Amino acid sequence: MYKILITGGAGFIGSHTCLVLLEAGHSLVVLDNYANSSPEALRRVMQLAGPGAEGRLQVIEGDIRRSADLERAFAAGASTGAGLDAVIHFAGLKAVGESVAEPLRYWDVNVSGSQHLLAAMAAHGCRTLVFSSSATLYGYPETVPIPESAPIQPINPYGYTKAAVEQMLRDVAASEPGWRIASLRYFNPVGAHPSGRIGEDPNGIPNNLFPFISQVAVGRREQVQVFGGDWPTTDGSGVRDYIHVMDLAEGHLAALKALLSGGDQLLQLNLGSGQGHSVLEVIEAFARACGHAIPYVITQRRSGDAAITVADPTEAKQQLGWQTRRNLDDMCKDGWHWQHANPNGYTSVRTSY
Ligand code: NAD
Ligand code: UFG
Repeated sequence: MYKILITGGAGFIGSHTCLVLLEAGHSLVVLDNYANSSPEALRRVMQLAGPGAEGRLQVIEGDIRRSADLERAFAAGASTGAGLDAVIHFAGLKAVGESVAEPLRYWDVNVSGSQHLLAAMAAHGCRTLVFSSSATLYGYPETVPIPESAPIQPINPYGYTKAAVEQMLRDVAASEPGWRIASLRYFNPVGAHPSGRIGEDPNGIPNNLFPFISQVAVGRREQVQVFGGDWPTTDGSGVRDYIHVMDLAEGHLAALKALLSGGDQLLQLNLGSGQGHSVLEVIEAFARACGHAIPYVITQRRSGDAAITVADPTEAKQQLGWQTRRNLDDMCKDGWHWQHANPNGYTSVRTSY
């Protein structure tokens, strides 16, 4: 069993991954500044993981850009014998529109934060890393499904920060032997743990389709705006590759296993299902899950959107022996379960860990 540092472990994807890793028997140190999350998420992760996980989750409130906070995390990892075996790096900012308005903050947290983390890893002799990259790297894709060999051509500051970190990782891997690195390019993560206890809890008005639909379904918002009904797709609405957050969490476990059981590696892998669903299909599927219609209106296209973004997931299957197992109905059922049980997310229960 391994000891793993999870940056951003209280967030949406991080919390689900923590649960999967605890259930697999690993010990975790989470470093999170709660910029976009609640300590309540990790409290619930511990409840879900059960008594067998007791003592295997240490939580440190801190910032990846602060060396002192990173030192505390590495010290926590070394407190029970040998140090950390690996890092999964989720911490970062992820809102495309915000990145256009505040590019320096995005370069600071995403790029400078990653640089600080890598320096701390090198100093502590921990050279195994799984990094949260994004399909946003591909910009307007030229071929769909998109293979990893597709050109990296981001179209917004958020995408540029992910491309910059991927480049930093290639440079670090080439600089000295010993690095084992996986950049995982997520497509559209949605849904929640089937218990409905943990899920996605965006601040303010959701930018993304799935949490917006969930909030309309639970009555927090009036109707979904469908951004464009004239895309070159079967029903005219945009098509994306939605991936259940539990499949994504399991993808991280598979990536860790592949890295820790091999020699020097630099993997760059799409994590998606290979299936595309249109906005109108997602609305319909969610209506089936919640048992009532979801009101929507078709509006203008959103600037910066592509018509169709779907992963070619072949490489991840070959390299990790991993593929998605859950379908759109599972994503909607579990997403609805979470939203229905927690209409205001974690907000009503923000407590310290
Ligand atoms: P999230 O915002 O829910 O989680 C990110 C976590 O990082 C939060 O808990 C936040 O508090 C923490 N954090 C932010 N800045 C920090 C800092 N300076 N120091 C320490 N902690 C900090 O986001 P998520 O959806 O779970 O995404 C996780 C990662 O995956 C991000 O890097 C994101 O860019 C990437 N990603 C997400 C998606 C998506 O659609 N959700 C798609 C592709 C890639
Ligand atoms: N959409 C709507 N109405 C909304 C929100 C979205 O119709 O209120 C449409 C979009 O036009 C698009 C689809 O729903 O066709 C999905 O949009 P999202 O905003 O949910 O997701 P994106 O594919 O635009 O982008 C997301 C993340 C990016 C990430 C990318 C790939 O926001 O950061 O997935 O992982 F890079």
